[in-house]
Amino acid sequence: MSPAKRKRSVEGNQAGDDRPIGVFDSGVGGLTVLSAISQLLPNENLMYLGDTARVPYGSKSAETVNAYALETADFFAARGVKAMVVACNTASATALPTLRERFSMPILGVVTPGAAAAAKQTTNRRVGVIGTEATMASGAYPRALLAVDSEIEIFTRACPLFVPLAEEGWVDNDISRRVVARYLSSLKASGVDTLVLGCTHYPLLGAAIGRYLGDSVAIVDSAAATALALREALCEEGLLRGRGRGDASFFVTDVPDRFMHLGTRFYGESVASAVRVVLRGAEGFAGKQPGG
Ligand code: DGL
Repeated sequence: MSPAKRKRSVEGNQAGDDRPIGVFDSGVGGLTVLSAISQLLPNENLMYLGDTARVPYGSKSAETVNAYALETADFFAARGVKAMVVACNTASATALPTLRERFSMPILGVVTPGAAAAAKQTTNRRVGVIGTEATMASGAYPRALLAVDSEIEIFTRACPLFVPLAEEGWVDNDISRRVVARYLSSLKASGVDTLVLGCTHYPLLGAAIGRYLGDSVAIVDSAAATALALREALCEEGLLRGRGRGDASFFVTDVPDRFMHLGTRFYGESVASAVRVVLRGAEGFAGKQPGG
């Protein structure tokens, strides 16, 4: 860290920057990332938005996901956040350059921290990555892994059924075990020693995935790595809130009931309330007449 940045960081710690951090996902899955952030940075005020009216992002085009991500970022910017975390792997894989062009505050995704953690973990340099169809199609994880170590061999697999299984709570029963085996058999045969869970929902299936692949394969979940990267970025920019207990507020774009119900499982503690909001584009879409 440069002396100037270190000085700002110390000043930031003393003053304490109370502004919230905006954390964004297509729905409920990013609560796994929010949980890691609130554990590592308990002083921070957190604002979470789940775009539940338009989930899933994982089967949509990059163009559509980028437009959604920009609307969410505008929502957070209007509420004065000091930094943003794109907790959704799909949006991280496609939208970060667009978001960073528009906003000068720190904006972190989950792909780079997850890839860096995997590159550090692997010893045989054979790394598997699983995620949504859009994340796999973007090539973002292979790019991020190769940027750390160009010798790494990467094996990828889209696992779209893991998202509904996690939401249904079928994370370790006969059905989920068969789906895990079906999706991951070729990865297992490829001899990877590290697997990146490149989707917010997949940590919930971590036990079944780990058991199928065996002890020789390390499972990397990008949530913890992202929380560490966020702490470092806030420190560098002098934006840490170094005192007091932070709070978390929740926003969704569809009725909150399902989000609050599922949220507890993903967040690890109860999501007592969530406010429904209308994003600019969602409003425009909802206002359209059928056939119009
Ligand atoms: N949050 C998404 C991700 O991490 C998974 C759910 C979706 O497809 O929207 O890629």
